[in-house]
Formats: sequence, C-alpha cells, structure tokens
Amino acid sequence: MPGVVLVGAQWGDEGKGKATDLLGSRVDHVVKFNGGNNAGHTVVIGDEKYALHLLPSGILSPGVVPVIANGVVVDIDVLFEELDALEARGVDVSRLLVSGSAHVIAPYHRTIDKVTERFLGKRRIGTTGRGIGPAYADKISRAGLRMWDLFDEKILRAKIEGALDQKNHLLVKVYNRRAVEVDEVVEELLRHAERLRPMVTDTSVVLNKALDEGKNVLFEAGQATMLDIDHGTYPFVTSSNATAGGAVTGSGVGPTRIDSVIGVIKAYTTRVGEGPFPTELFDDKGEFLLKQGGEYGVTTGRARRCGWYDAVIARYAARVNGLTDLVLTKLDILTGMEKVPVCVAYDVDGVRHDEMPTDQTAFHHAKPIYEEFDGWWEDISTARSLADLPKNARTYVDALEQMSGTRISAIGVGPARDQIIPVHDLIHPR
Ligand code: IMP
Repeated sequence: MPGVVLVGAQWGDEGKGKATDLLGSRVDHVVKFNGGNNAGHTVVIGDEKYALHLLPSGILSPGVVPVIANGVVVDIDVLFEELDALEARGVDVSRLLVSGSAHVIAPYHRTIDKVTERFLGKRRIGTTGRGIGPAYADKISRAGLRMWDLFDEKILRAKIEGALDQKNHLLVKVYNRRAVEVDEVVEELLRHAERLRPMVTDTSVVLNKALDEGKNVLFEAGQATMLDIDHGTYPFVTSSNATAGGAVTGSGVGPTRIDSVIGVIKAYTTRVGEGPFPTELFDDKGEFLLKQGGEYGVTTGRARRCGWYDAVIARYAARVNGLTDLVLTKLDILTGMEKVPVCVAYDVDGVRHDEMPTDQTAFHHAKPIYEEFDGWWEDISTARSLADLPKNARTYVDALEQMSGTRISAIGVGPARDQIIPVHDLIHPR
C-alpha cells in the first residue's frame, strides 16, 4: 500500500499529468486500467513535449514500471509506434508490462467504428474513430481477442473466424464495405507476437505483489467521469469504466487496496465530441477559454467545447468516485475575466436540481443556475502557495472546494511541471 487512483472529474482533458507530476518519483508503478488510444495526454519535461495516447504517463519516469492492465483495449500498431518514437528520443521503455487479458483492437474494429459513426449521421457519438467501442462490444459479447491469444495461432484463428462470421455480413450487406479476410488479420496480429511476448504477463499478480511490498501504485484513468459507460452522459460516453471502480475491475486488485482517489478538475469545463453540456459557452468568453487554454484535442486535434465550472458535476464526480482529493488545474486561464460564473445547480423545466440528473431527457433540459465571482487580473503563474494567490482567485478556489465537498489538494497555474501550488500531500493512508 498505498494504491492511489487518479480520475478525470469532468469530460476529460483535465490535465491529469499535473497530479502525476506531483506524485513524481514516489510512484513505483503507473497503471492504465481502461480505454485505449482514444486518450491523449501531453507531458512536458523541460523543453521536451511528449504526446501519449496509449502508453501510461509513467513510461517517461525513470525507475517507474508502466503497466497496461486487463481493462485496456490495445491497438498493437499504436503501441509499437509510441514505443519506437520514445526510444528514438532516448527514453528507456523496457520496463513496460502488458496484461495478457487486455483486449486487442483489431483492424476491423477501427473500420466498424468509422462506418457506424457515418451511418448514425446526426445521431453520431463523435467517437475518436480508434475502434474503442467495437473492441469493447466484442469483449462484452465474448467475441473479443486477448493478448494471450496472439501466442496460440490456432485459437487466434478460430476467434477471428468467429468474430468475422457476423461482422462480414454487417460490413458487406449493411455498410456496403468489402469483407475482411481472416488470413489478413491473423497474419497482421501474429507479426507482432514475438515482440510482444516479453512484455505480456499476468499484471494482477505483479500489482498485488507491489502493494504487498508497500510500494506506491498509481492507477491512472483514461477519459473521465462524465464519459464513463455507467455514470457518464450515456450514450455520449466512451465504452469503458473511467471512474474509480474501473481501477479495480480493470487491473485485478481489490477495492480494499485503494487508499486515495484523486479527481482532476479544470477551473472551467471542456468537452469534445457530441452530447449535452449545460455550461457550454457560445460567445467570446468561450472563445477566450478555447484560445487561452489551448483547448485542442491531443488525439484528434478537434477544438474542444468550452464552458464555466460546473459544481453539480464536481459533486457528482466526488460521489461516484469516492474522491478523497481534488487537483484543480488551469486556474491561470481564468486570469483577466471580469466575472467568473460557477454553475451551482440546474433548472430542469422549472425545477431546481442540486444533484446530477442521470435521466438523459432531464440532463438535456438542464439550464445552469449561476453564482458569479469577481475575477482577477494579477499574473498567478508564479504562485507556489495559496498565500501567493490574489484575494479574488483565493475566494474562487475556496468556493469551489466548499461546493464540491472535496478538499483541493493542489492547484495548477501553468503548463510547466513546477507551475503548481501543493496544498495537501496526495499520497496518504485511508
Ligand atoms: P470513443 O472513446 O472513441 O468511443 O469516443 C466516445 C466519446 O468519448 C467521444 O465523445 C470522444 O470525443 C470522447 N473521448 C474519448 N477519449 C477521450 C479523451 O481522452 N478525452 C476527451 N474525450 C474523449
């Protein structure tokens, strides 16, 4: 012990790297437990900027064991591309471990993701097109391929035949695409088997042993609470559990091994893809947040939708994740605003809601009820303690903490690693 879970508290892109940086050299293992290469995080080390989609951020820290656990869906081409790119820049990637039970994103999953979205037209989800949903769909319907299968050609072939049996009908008859050849897929996946072999293991054994030995294990969620398949804004969500519970099922450690759950939350809100977003701005303030915050997707390059901080979402994230700490990021982006509104509740068809409405119709009708705070003009990017913050910024932070019902343990005030105000230690016993 301790096991530390790190989740996004909004719709993703909250800047989880800030919290990871704070934990820094004290972490022994960094575990990715859900999602795949739909994620995107930028890590800045010195003058170097690294954009990772699939690999856990721990891959960049010397001495850390990065783990891709069983809850992840892995595009093997992307895995090797990212490893090769890092190696070319001198990063040692040899410690990476991949769970044999992690599922494989096959080429036909990518095809189905794209054609389904096109077919949905106006009702599309706005996926990243990386094959995530179709790979998880196969996992749940027991037609998926796991890493272990790559080491047994007979089983691999049988599973691919089984999966393509139905999919080829769908591709040809519904989507008007060419059928996928079993041999092509088998060959492509087998090509990777030899290189994968030394990395693939039972990562649940490794992680439980590490916790037994008192090591610090960081479980880092991809995506975020509001994109969680169960607790997010369904159906505009990703296909995995991005909330804290996913860390347990997605990595094979029990809930009793988790000591703290850190939620990362931006000082305003962003979202990519389709779906409801009550505090979204369509005016010059939204444009300001987009430009000032550099809110463009790392994975797809899409401009993110921007809006004010939503305390209803923060409280909801605190509840469904059991948050022990919040890391507030990008506070500096709000500098220069005359007034900073915060959504404190929703008006749903004339009725006030203080809790998140999980009924889709109600959430689509939710209108934010705002409380306004005075802005600040002072540069806060060099603040390193709460006392360095101007009065209005401090009032804003205190109000967010009080409304969210979770202590704010760190505050990000700029993109660089050291641009952070540490308030409470993030590694602590339960
Ligand atoms: P999928 O995960 O590609 O199936 O996409 C489903 C939804 O999740 C879409 O709205 C995506 O834009 C969104 N999404 C997936 N990954 C991320 C992420 O890392 N950050 C923000 N949004 C994401």
